[in-house]
Amino acid sequence: MPPPMPRASAGHPVAGGGGAAYQRALMSSSLPRSAATPDGVHPFPHRHLLGIAGLHAWEISFLLDEAEQWVALNRTPTKHDDRLAGLTQINAFFENSTRTLLSFEIAGKRLGADVVNMGVAQSSVKKGETLIDTAVTLNAMRSDVIVIRHDASGAVGLIADKVDCPVLNAGDGRHEHPTQALLDALTIRRRKGKIAGLTVAICGDVLHSRVARSNIIALGTMGAQVRVVAPPTLMPPAIDRMSVEPFTDFEKGIAGADVVMMLRLQRERMAGGFVPSEREYHAFHGLTPEKLAHAAPDALVMHPGPMNRGVEITSSVADDPQRSAITEQVEMGVAVRMACLDVLTRSRRGVEGWA
Ligand code: NCD
Repeated sequence: MPPPMPRASAGHPVAGGGGAAYQRALMSSSLPRSAATPDGVHPFPHRHLLGIAGLHAWEISFLLDEAEQWVALNRTPTKHDDRLAGLTQINAFFENSTRTLLSFEIAGKRLGADVVNMGVAQSSVKKGETLIDTAVTLNAMRSDVIVIRHDASGAVGLIADKVDCPVLNAGDGRHEHPTQALLDALTIRRRKGKIAGLTVAICGDVLHSRVARSNIIALGTMGAQVRVVAPPTLMPPAIDRMSVEPFTDFEKGIAGADVVMMLRLQRERMAGGFVPSEREYHAFHGLTPEKLAHAAPDALVMHPGPMNRGVEITSSVADDPQRSAITEQVEMGVAVRMACLDVLTRSRRGVEGWA
C-alpha cells in the first residue's frame, strides 16, 4: 500500500507539494517591498474595486495613505466633507449585513453623497429577477457608484461588467472582501507602525472566509509573513498555493505572532458537520487569555465581526483594550471606505489627473 498523502499536521506546513512552493513563497514574501508609487505610474488606475488580488503594494499603500485624512476628519466634531455632493451612491446588499452596510452609508454621507440603501428584503431577486436584470436596473438609475454585497462568489464582478459606474465589492460569497482587508491593514499599520516583516496568524474558519482570502493577499503583498490556523476540516484544500504557512495546531500556529486575527465560524455557509461542536471548537481553536500567551507579548488581537463570543473568541480577550483592536477596526472601516469612494469617483468628478 502506498504511504498516505502528507496532510496539514499539527504545527507543520502542509507537505506534499507544499514544501518547495512554501519555501519559495516565504522567500519571495520576505523580500523588501517598496510601497511608494513608482515614478510615472498612476497611483490607482482601476475603475472598480472588486478584490485585493491584482493590486500592487503601492496601490494598497495609496488607499491606506488616503484613508489617514478621513481618520483625522472623523475624529473632529463636524466629520464632513462635500466632495461627493450631487453624486448618488447605491448600496445594493443582497446578503444581510449590519456593520458593513452602515459603514458604507456613513462613509458616503460624510463625503456628501446621496446614499440609497437597497437591502435583500427589498430586492426583486426574491421575485426571481436575474442578476443581469438587477444590474441593468441599477445602471438605469444613473448611480455614480454602486456598493454591492452578494452571497455568490463572483456576482459582484458580473454586475460590474454591466454598469457604467464604479463598483465596490462589499463581500461576495467566499471570494473577496477588499475593504475589510484594507481596514485591517490600516489598523495593523497604525498600531504596529508597519506591515512588512510582521507575522500575522489568521485563525478559524478560513475555508468559508472571504475576509481570510482578501487578507492573505493584502498582507502577503505588503510583506507580512502570513500563517493560517484552522482545523483540517476548515483549511482550504488549495492552501499550499496561497503563499501562507498553514497550521492545524492553534497554539503552534499563533506562537510568536505579532497579530492574531480571529475569524467568525460561518455557520450559514456550512452544509454539514465541519466542527464536532462549538464547545469542542472553542476548546481547540477559540482564543482565550491562556492561548494568547503563546503569541508575541504585545500581539494585537483582531476580529472582523460579528463575533461569536465563547466560540472563536473569549470576551475577556475581545474586550481587552490593551490587546484588542476590534473597535478600532470598525473605526478604520469608515475611513477606508471614504478613501475608496473618493478615489473611485475621481474620474467622474473630473479631478485633475484622474480623467
Ligand atoms: C465579515 C463578512 O461579512 O464577510 N463581516 C463583515 O464584513 N462585517 C465577516 C463575517 O461575516 O464573519
